[in-house]
Amino acid sequence: MNHLFSINDLSVEDIHQLIDDANEIIESSESPHLPHTGALLFYEPSTRTKMSFEMACINSGVNLLSFAPETSSVTKGESLYDTVKTVEAIGAEFVVIRHNQERYYDELNQISIPIINAGDGSGEHPTQSLLDLLTIKQDFGHFENLVITICGDILHSRVARSNAQILSKLGAKVQFVAKSEWHDQSLPFEYVTMDEAVKESDVIMLLRVQNERHKQTYQCEDYLDQYGLTVERGKLMKPKSIIMHPAPFNRGVEIDSSLVECERSRIFKQMSNGVAMRQAIINFYINQGGLTYDITH
Ligand code: CP
Repeated sequence: MNHLFSINDLSVEDIHQLIDDANEIIESSESPHLPHTGALLFYEPSTRTKMSFEMACINSGVNLLSFAPETSSVTKGESLYDTVKTVEAIGAEFVVIRHNQERYYDELNQISIPIINAGDGSGEHPTQSLLDLLTIKQDFGHFENLVITICGDILHSRVARSNAQILSKLGAKVQFVAKSEWHDQSLPFEYVTMDEAVKESDVIMLLRVQNERHKQTYQCEDYLDQYGLTVERGKLMKPKSIIMHPAPFNRGVEIDSSLVECERSRIFKQMSNGVAMRQAIINFYINQGGLTYDITH
């Protein structure tokens, strides 16, 4: 029977043959012609980011090691560092990590392969930011002097933190709309009302209420009317202004359901742009050995 249930299923000759074969594989793996391999380590849920990295890898011919925390040795207490070190030892040339701990990457400074941050708690989401920049540039061709209003749960949003910093650096005028409890004093941007924002913005970037990061689930019946993009407010937007949202979105909470797929909406365009941008990011880090995303430090 051709199975390997027990070490005793193999003859001594078989074992020596396997040792020789493995050594040959190690020697041949130094060839530069092997396909590249990476790993996606998602400790928090994701649809878009994970699937678009998977699609980007398919398009680039990059193999992915499979990982799910609930079926991995994380359940036996293995630390993030030891998991990433293991993935590196197994042969991944880069890792994409999403984790609920802000700046989780600070404990990974002994890792040699590139680490691509797919979201660190309320910290940053640099790859989302890059695909958002691509989407904005497709519409406007530049960033300078664009008025970009980021609206919603600013305090808990890694997307807001990455986008506000980089868009401002690129010359856009960034401003926020948020309930006072969700103002982030660490970000030096002005807060305006939603009624002001819709009239003056080139981009209205909506955010989900991040209930998973709140001590108590936020419930507000009139959130859409107070802070969201209603149909009436949508009509006040400038002719070429666009609506963005990193998603997942909550129809009828931060955005009227009918606006999700309206002509101004770039929400699904952002998702398809995510594949191309993540393909570019993977190629960049594989080919250049990795550069730091400087706004995280
Ligand atoms: N925008 C975003 O990060 O979506 P996911 O949480 O589904 O990856």
